Amino acid sequence: MKIDALLENMTLAEKLGQLTMTAAGHAVTGPVIAGDSVEALRTGTVGNVLNLIGADHVHSWQRLAVEESRLRIPLLFALDILHGYRTLFPIALAEAGLFDPASWAATARAAAVEAAAEGIALTFAPMLDIARDPRWGRMAEGPGEDPLVGCRMAEAKVRGFQGESLAGSGTLAATAKHFVGYAAVTAGREYAALELSERTLEEVHLPPFAAAVEAGVAAVMPAFTDLAGVPLTAHRRLLHDTLRERLGFDGVLVSDYNAIAELIQHGVAADEGEAAALSLKAGVDIDMMAGAYRRGLPVALQRGLVTMQEIDASVHRVLRLKERLGLFEDPFRRGARPDTAVALEERRRLAREVATRAIVMLTNTRDTLPLDPPPKRLAVLGPLADASAEMRGAWWAAAPAEGQVTLVQGLRDALPAAEIRHAAGVAIEGTETSGIAPALALCDGVDAVVLCLGEAAIMSGEAASRAHLDLPGAQRAFAEAALDRAHARGARVITVLFSGRPLVVPWLTARADAVLAAWFLGSEAGNALADVMTGRRSPSGRTAVTWPRALGQIPIFYAERPSGRPYARDNRYTTRYIDEPNEPLFPFGHGLTYGRFTLAGLRVSPSTPREHDTIEAQVEVANEGARHATETVFLFIRDKVARVTRPQLELKAFGSVTLAPGERKTLTLAVSAGELKYPGPDLEPIFDPGEIEILVGPAADRRCLLAATVRLAAG
Ligand code: NOJ
Repeated sequence: MKIDALLENMTLAEKLGQLTMTAAGHAVTGPVIAGDSVEALRTGTVGNVLNLIGADHVHSWQRLAVEESRLRIPLLFALDILHGYRTLFPIALAEAGLFDPASWAATARAAAVEAAAEGIALTFAPMLDIARDPRWGRMAEGPGEDPLVGCRMAEAKVRGFQGESLAGSGTLAATAKHFVGYAAVTAGREYAALELSERTLEEVHLPPFAAAVEAGVAAVMPAFTDLAGVPLTAHRRLLHDTLRERLGFDGVLVSDYNAIAELIQHGVAADEGEAAALSLKAGVDIDMMAGAYRRGLPVALQRGLVTMQEIDASVHRVLRLKERLGLFEDPFRRGARPDTAVALEERRRLAREVATRAIVMLTNTRDTLPLDPPPKRLAVLGPLADASAEMRGAWWAAAPAEGQVTLVQGLRDALPAAEIRHAAGVAIEGTETSGIAPALALCDGVDAVVLCLGEAAIMSGEAASRAHLDLPGAQRAFAEAALDRAHARGARVITVLFSGRPLVVPWLTARADAVLAAWFLGSEAGNALADVMTGRRSPSGRTAVTWPRALGQIPIFYAERPSGRPYARDNRYTTRYIDEPNEPLFPFGHGLTYGRFTLAGLRVSPSTPREHDTIEAQVEVANEGARHATETVFLFIRDKVARVTRPQLELKAFGSVTLAPGERKTLTLAVSAGELKYPGPDLEPIFDPGEIEILVGPAADRRCLLAATVRLAAG
């Protein structure tokens, strides 16, 4: 009601202000509005702001809007809070490896509380792009390669950010992004165009967005890219017909940064008027940073390209979001109470816990890890051993460069009696090698060498595609020399890899005695790694993406469809390379622990499930090792004969169990038979009676899966 009354009262300029989002910049004198002046807040011609940090700033701008503008409409403050605000949790790709929706929700909740305490009301997260090409740096920001993981993460993150009610003082509106298919950009190259079959769109890329909508996500952001000739920012069929009409999304569509103006570069609009009309008609409500709505929509109106009703519909949705966020009721609710030291402490604890569980132990020969008994002397080498800023990963929101715990610090705290020697040896990038010799000298006389290698934080995330996925710069030369030196002296080498994607490093995983994938673990990175390395905790993370052994295998993912000539290593006329095996370096789901788990006795019931039944798989999990550990177990299906070819493995459920040495438990994984539907020949979902193989085990590798068969029954 209030919104309708407001709308009636608004001038065109005020309406377009509500459809405009502008970035705050920082001048010496304080924050400024990019390409504008704060006067725009008084005149109501900017209604939404991104990138303003600090409750004082946020509130002083809010005051201009609600006390000095004609209609007193509150501003909406937005920021990219991908994996934490000040306290950073592991990047999403790392966190995906917990395979634990409750933790995914908990970190989003904690980030929301921390950001809302500084006045932020909207985050551009979760990022839900299903990514199968590690050249694309944005793989770091999302759930990895699997659509089910994407769906579960979508639900958990939306729940976490948005809490019980959007109006709460500690909640953020979430934005599901980037709708849709962005991860399939040509050759993994950022911002490039993409081609996707309708089937892959339906089966792989759309489901996480459908799950986010189902969970009540408040906003959606279209991708920058063009999909088969139509830029997503102007894709009426996908934004309007699919997202709004079919999936039932009734929230706000916010464009990506400058994306509306970029329709001109894409070559589908001649000028701002056309660009603005195309995206408004597609259903995009907020123009982020292009200014194309403010300048272009009046022109488009004049030319008859859009109607005032269409503008009003978007303004209505934006005002409705502000209302749901409680901004009309109390625009200062968020940021009213400063964060407490106790709350901060708790978040740090959560960050350490989640980071510990996100670490993936890729290899561990001869039980190199844990370092038990505690070593007396350690050489902790490499450019990422003591690099606080890098621990943050891409999108660090308001987290400072200093104060993120590095591995050198973490090990010094965990092993106070040990001598911890450190040298970077080389920089992350560059060709300088003069630091190698002095660093190698530190390897003499130590119990073990820890090599901290990988990417800089900004080598993944947006605008960070890589054509080479080996270690950058002189790191390989350094690592090879360090491996030679340490092994010659009888010291083992533990490699810790920091990256926003799998790296192509078969030479390294073959030679190092143990390799940990640390991804980017956030504020507590070093403590988490030390917890795992010293054996205080067992590693339990699993990789949510397949690791290739060669660049030429990309795109690579476990759920490939079968070939008429299935892969056989020794038969040339099968689907294979002549110069590299098809097997990945590490399959989806891989990750070792300090336990020794066996899985046995798979039982599945009922044996002839109908569509509304729940299929339950039970498996006995035993820890025959000497340490407490957590095992994650996956349930895949294989539909051997269907109306269209089905993936060789499809993930349908996952779960985990923590066992003491010698302990065993029955783990039950459930999947509703209705979830075994697939898009049939005409892409309509069908429930297809017949045999389904149920495969249960620790990774997407047929050789380690237990199998049983059920027969789906009609009716
Ligand atoms: C561009 C990125 O593509 C998007 O993910 C992000 O939310 C916006 N910039 C705002 O920073």
